[in-house]
Amino acid sequence: MARTAFITGITGQDGSYLAELLLAKGYIVYGLIRRSSTFNTDRIDHLYQDPHVKDYRLRLVYGDMQDGSCLTRLLHEIKPDEIYNLAAQSHVKVSFDTAEHTGDVGALGVTRILEAMRTACPKARFYQASSSEMFGSAPAPQNEATPFAPRSPYAIAKLYGHHLVANYREAWGLFACSGILFNHESPRRGGTFVTRKISHAVAAIKAGKQDRLFLGNLDAKRDWGFAPEYVEGMWRMLQADKPGDYVLATGETHTVREFVEHAFGCVGLDWTKYVEHDPRYLRPTEVDLLLGDPGKAKRELGWQCQVKFADLVKIMVEADVRGLKDGLREFEVRERHFK
Ligand code: NAP
Ligand code: GDD
Repeated sequence: MARTAFITGITGQDGSYLAELLLAKGYIVYGLIRRSSTFNTDRIDHLYQDPHVKDYRLRLVYGDMQDGSCLTRLLHEIKPDEIYNLAAQSHVKVSFDTAEHTGDVGALGVTRILEAMRTACPKARFYQASSSEMFGSAPAPQNEATPFAPRSPYAIAKLYGHHLVANYREAWGLFACSGILFNHESPRRGGTFVTRKISHAVAAIKAGKQDRLFLGNLDAKRDWGFAPEYVEGMWRMLQADKPGDYVLATGETHTVREFVEHAFGCVGLDWTKYVEHDPRYLRPTEVDLLLGDPGKAKRELGWQCQVKFADLVKIMVEADVRGLKDGLREFEVRERHFK
């Protein structure tokens, strides 16, 4: 019988890749979507309409991480084998402006779904989208044993969720895992995260549709990987013999400045002519250096990333260049990437 997965955050970057992966493996996939005034399912529309996704195996259900009774009802009805909790207000800078909301969704939302699981389907396997942001100012390289030192309301919300998963694992015997994922990007990355903001701007500048790119801190260092490989790691965590926490990372770190240089270099432009500093993109407290040690995931899950920094930049810039050249709108660039 087909296995059933429940994904929160299915309309986001990771949710869309994960849904694709699980459907390809024959799962029935339930995805939680929020009502919004304009439809925001463009990252998964190709799956919903795909004739190869037979028998309506992708099923979208309305709900919200702020609505615990709804989550409880859904898990009682669906009784999934696997739950992937990817929903969050995931923008670090925005979390300083919407600290309460970010905590409600990213921290209390985890309580709500774990409580729902505990009563509705305690034998299910649970994945929590924890984050390398939780390391904050901790010295690098960071791994599962590194003490956390969060620097934003977003990171603090994620840390609450992270500890709660460990507690529910110990207290109630749930099969619950946290993936401590370092930054991962793709052509489906939201346009206000720095990598996609850069790749899109490079394409627009090359096409003569934009003349400057305003950025904040160019010195921050991140361990950037390729999102489709990271969702494979999430799935592997739930196939393991026992639940645990795993870092997924490339093991390399690069500055935002290096990303900019490479991205403009992909289209033969000198970035210094186009990039300007805008203090509005600075954060009240910054995470200066993230560099992950993915050794445990390699040893125990056989997970290792293949796409490294230079290839990632190229994939993203080329997708945006193609998208703009063909006159595609934002969601069409993402769809083109599926093909
Ligand atoms: P994303 O593109 O921002 O997607 C976030 C998803 O959460 C969207 O589907 C969004 O739905 C949903 N969501 C937000 N608030 C919700 C609510 N109240 N109820 C239900 N759904 C809600 O994020 P992502 O990059 O795919 O990341 C997936 C998860 O991994 C997030 O939890 C993120 O914090 C975490 N993470 C990401 C990275 C990374 O580098 N990408 C690294 C570590 C951890 P709408 O479409 O309706 O807004
Ligand atoms: N967004 C943004 N916009 N960031 C900028 C800009 C800009 O114009 N200019 C410089 N930066 C710097 C930020 O200050 C930060 O140091 C770095 O670029 C990366 O910023 P983001 O791409 O917004 O990602 P993030 O590292 O803050 O958070 C992402 O990764 C986390 C994992 O470490 C998000 O995906 C989080 O949800 C995720 O948990």
